[in-house]
Amino acid sequence: MYNMRASTAEAPVLDRMDSLKPNELIKDDPMNNISPAIVERVGRSLHTMPNHPLSIIKQKIETYFTERSKKQNGAEFMIFDDLSPKVKITANFDDLLIPPDHVSRSASDTYYIDDETMLRGHTSAHQASLLKNGHDSFLCTGDVYRRDEIDASHYPVFHQMEGVRVFPEKAPPEGSEKIQGNKEVEADLKDALEGMVDAVFGPVEKRWVDAYFPFTEPSFELEIYYNDKWLEVLGCGVMQQDILRRAGRGEQPGWAFGLGLERLAMVLFNIPDIRLFWSQDERFTGQFKDGEITEFKPFSKYPAATRDVSFWLDPAKSFHQNDLCEVVRGKAGDLVEKVELVDEFTHPKTNRTSNMFRIVYCSLDKTFTSDEVNVIHDGVREELVANFNVELRI
Ligand code: PHE
Repeated sequence: MYNMRASTAEAPVLDRMDSLKPNELIKDDPMNNISPAIVERVGRSLHTMPNHPLSIIKQKIETYFTERSKKQNGAEFMIFDDLSPKVKITANFDDLLIPPDHVSRSASDTYYIDDETMLRGHTSAHQASLLKNGHDSFLCTGDVYRRDEIDASHYPVFHQMEGVRVFPEKAPPEGSEKIQGNKEVEADLKDALEGMVDAVFGPVEKRWVDAYFPFTEPSFELEIYYNDKWLEVLGCGVMQQDILRRAGRGEQPGWAFGLGLERLAMVLFNIPDIRLFWSQDERFTGQFKDGEITEFKPFSKYPAATRDVSFWLDPAKSFHQNDLCEVVRGKAGDLVEKVELVDEFTHPKTNRTSNMFRIVYCSLDKTFTSDEVNVIHDGVREELVANFNVELRI
């Protein structure tokens, strides 16, 4: 016997992408830490671009879940891919039971707009509002934003897909007060995701690894053996009942998963550098076709230029490697390939700390002269002095 609970929680408005004005993301607010380079990415929506590797994978996963529901005569998965990346801070963290002192909330990890709103750091930020709007089964894809280091597989904007399935509440067995069902929910979650991975990668060896997320319990990561390596594909788990209760679902059980589309696309299409997804070069965009996973054909890579910068930190100012990445990204855009801390020491007498960073500048689609690189690198140095009051050494 099943009883579906009517949603009693108030349904918030689902803000769509088209309600967002990117030029309002940078404002004069002490919390605001969004740079123009980031604003430029908002609204590109690579996951909805035809013939783009990210949308090709997204479609494959959506098709898989649609077919699975049909086979099971289960609820259809609703598809969302145009929700605004500007979310309430509470939606990104508190609604998901992420504690107030969690590292992901720090200003060196998250892009804040003001003291109420931010650029979402994961698509889980939409779980509660979609549930409150009465959706039981959904896939929600979008661009997510995290201040991060810079290298071939890290970029401050990437794309995630969230999947949620809420089940009807099961009547407790005779003589028992507790809802039994989480084992079945876990089994359905694992079956669904194993099938999804086979649908996308072809039959592969898989393993489940115990994990921790504040919003699911138990939590798992799914890894697959692909190209002679174990690859982590996604995080998932049985949803915390409190999240469902607050969304008006009482004791109905549910599962959730989240996966990064770039990570999957890089291995499936053999794309070596995460910046390529943003390329508007015909030699990249012209290679792919909806519905097909094809091997990326590299085109000529232009020579890289390496520049070091070394400086004494101002002990009165906080400085994080991600701050430097942000400065470099602001000056160099996608010309920057890598930022690496190569030396750090504290002077025994003065107690001052020195950092040396190596920056690799390399364009994917243009040749740069050494002079052009120098102009950019000088700009980075000047901004470090202006913003962080460092004393330059090299
Ligand atoms: N939001 C998590 C992340 O970004 C992934 C996740 C989603 C894990 C849903 C469990 C359930 O890492």
